[in-house]
Amino acid sequence: MSQRIEQGTGTFAIRGGLLDFSGDPAVSENAHRWEEDGLLVVADGKVRAAGAHAALSPALEPGTPIVDCRGRIVTPGFIDTHIHYPQTDMIASPAEGLLPWLDTWTFPAERRFADPAHAHDAARFFLDELLRCGTTTAMVYCSVHPESAEAFFLESEARGTRMVAGKVLMDRHCPDFLRESAEQGARESEALIRKWHKRGRQMVAITPRFAATSTPAQLQLAGDLACAYPDTFVQTHVAENTDEIAWIRSLYPEARSYLDVYERYGLLRPRAMYAHCIWLDDADRARLAATGAAAALCPTSNLFLGSGLFDVRSADRAGMALTLATDVGGGTSFSMLETMNEMYKVARMTGAHLSALRLFYLATLGGARGMRLEGTIGSFAPGAEADFIVLDPRATPLLARRTQHAQSLEELLFALAILGDDRVVETTYVAGKILHERK
Ligand code: GUN
Ligand code: ZN
Repeated sequence: MSQRIEQGTGTFAIRGGLLDFSGDPAVSENAHRWEEDGLLVVADGKVRAAGAHAALSPALEPGTPIVDCRGRIVTPGFIDTHIHYPQTDMIASPAEGLLPWLDTWTFPAERRFADPAHAHDAARFFLDELLRCGTTTAMVYCSVHPESAEAFFLESEARGTRMVAGKVLMDRHCPDFLRESAEQGARESEALIRKWHKRGRQMVAITPRFAATSTPAQLQLAGDLACAYPDTFVQTHVAENTDEIAWIRSLYPEARSYLDVYERYGLLRPRAMYAHCIWLDDADRARLAATGAAAALCPTSNLFLGSGLFDVRSADRAGMALTLATDVGGGTSFSMLETMNEMYKVARMTGAHLSALRLFYLATLGGARGMRLEGTIGSFAPGAEADFIVLDPRATPLLARRTQHAQSLEELLFALAILGDDRVVETTYVAGKILHERK
């Protein structure tokens, strides 16, 4: 029986090609699970079982609805570990590098988020766009205004999405209209944590924008919060752009490196997400790996702003936790498939090869691991939240033509990663509910 499923309550199953990961395919063999004729059983918004249809279907309760997705790929929802929702309206705005781009486009766009009506409107569009692209969890920067975070969490809560977000902290080197004192920023962040951290599926990140826009006092207060609330997240930018790095060196001459600035204030720890990580040295890479912090690779942004090429091979040698991110609006697409495409090319430019399996890992379980949320999101482990997507390998005429003669799973996924975008995402389920369906 095939039947359309509307609600996340009760039990239902999806029949199709199942793909998920239990490890990094670059590190371990058998890190992925692929069931060409698979069955995903969902009960009350969680994964009850995943495996071969032939093995699982006899145990289904008679009458359990089965959605027929044969010929498509069912995989955990994508996880975007670094994105700015107030930058949605200024995506695709050119500048000669990061610092002029912030001044010319970013700060004026973020100013508008003092207005809760604007923040709600932008948050609604942003969440819908993520879901259209198959992204079910993201680590999100709001603006400095607590209202912007409040609006974001309310909209996410209404959809039931698992989101991590934080209000940006800035107490220097930004326009007056975005600046607040170190103490006020810390107070507002703590209030957000108390109200929203782990309220349903919402989680809070302490969010110093980057070391240039925070005084040492502000980084200290951020580090104090990170210590006082160890299961919150930390997110910031590091080693993105060479002009930025020279500036940081002049602001923090005592630090060994840009990353070391953050370590001095207690901001390197599990659940800390460092965006870009382009211009690190091996000592920095070793510190990221040793402290359990993770890197968010932002290829479309790094190409768009001319920031540089992430060095995958050096990161792998150091054992860094890697995740994939769009960094909209420096990034140029909400689609994690388009992000995989650009990541593949960036890796090629540095002599590395990323397999399609690894790209899909980075966009799912890799993100969950970097966030210390494995077992909760990012895989079909029993009990995981049922956030998943249905991908159509024949979504476009070119994809249909290319994938019909794919000889292996790797070849099929590679075509999706290089040729795919939002059109490939047929359905997005969040906690077992359909939140996007491509007509
Ligand atoms: N560094 C500090 N702020 C930002 C931002 O908004 N985007 C990017 N890409 N880098 C930053
Ligand atoms: Zn960013």
